[in-house]
Amino acid sequence: MSPPRPCRIAPSLLSADFARLGEEVRAVIAAGADLVHFDVMDNHYVPNLTIGPLVCEAIRPHSSVPIDVHLMVEPVDRIVPDFAKAGATFITFHPEASRHVDRTIGLIRESGCRPGLVFNPATPLAWLDHTIDKLDMVLLMSVNPGFGGQSFLPHVLPKLEEARRRVDAARARTGREILLEVDGGVKIDNIAAIAKAGADTFVAGSAVFGAKDYRATIAAMRAAVAAA
Ligand code: DX5
Ligand code: ZN
Repeated sequence: MSPPRPCRIAPSLLSADFARLGEEVRAVIAAGADLVHFDVMDNHYVPNLTIGPLVCEAIRPHSSVPIDVHLMVEPVDRIVPDFAKAGATFITFHPEASRHVDRTIGLIRESGCRPGLVFNPATPLAWLDHTIDKLDMVLLMSVNPGFGGQSFLPHVLPKLEEARRRVDAARARTGREILLEVDGGVKIDNIAAIAKAGADTFVAGSAVFGAKDYRATIAAMRAAVAAA
């Protein structure tokens, strides 16, 4: 029997209280978060505006876990070194937002961070054909990017199964671990189905920060994944 797949919970700061961000980061880590998901929106690639490298740098001393920077910006390359300096661990980007995807992946790696590609609901996994061996993360969006609190799009589940096959095949070939993350509308009541379809890393914004008890929510998510 193969060992159980890991279950990493990555609360998205998008739904945290921005006036108390350091405190929120510490609270969610104390409650069991494995990663902190950091949503960067530019009001250009997506119709919303959030936080940048200065805020990443400000929360870094509050975080004892990896910071998972999700870039929803266009262009991508200019801002990558800034996030590396600001303490990002993972940097993921949308391939449509970069003119030269291979170059951007290389830039993230050279900056000392772990690169990942993000797939919108309608973006084909074919972008993995010539990139997967250079990636540390594959992130499937289960909402259209730009806002927290949207509903999970169920047609992403079969796509997730296909992504799992590709990630496992790459791992069998190279031995490298690639995280398979899902982002958007992840809740206690659908996380089991998402885990079954192949995800090992789960972004949850409103489900965690909208709850009174972060610890109970993260524990319930982990229990649902374990039972799946
Ligand atoms: C959406 C962001 C998500 C968002 C998820 O564009 O990338 O990370 O915060 O929020 P929920 O979990 O509320 O859907
Ligand atoms: Zn995100």
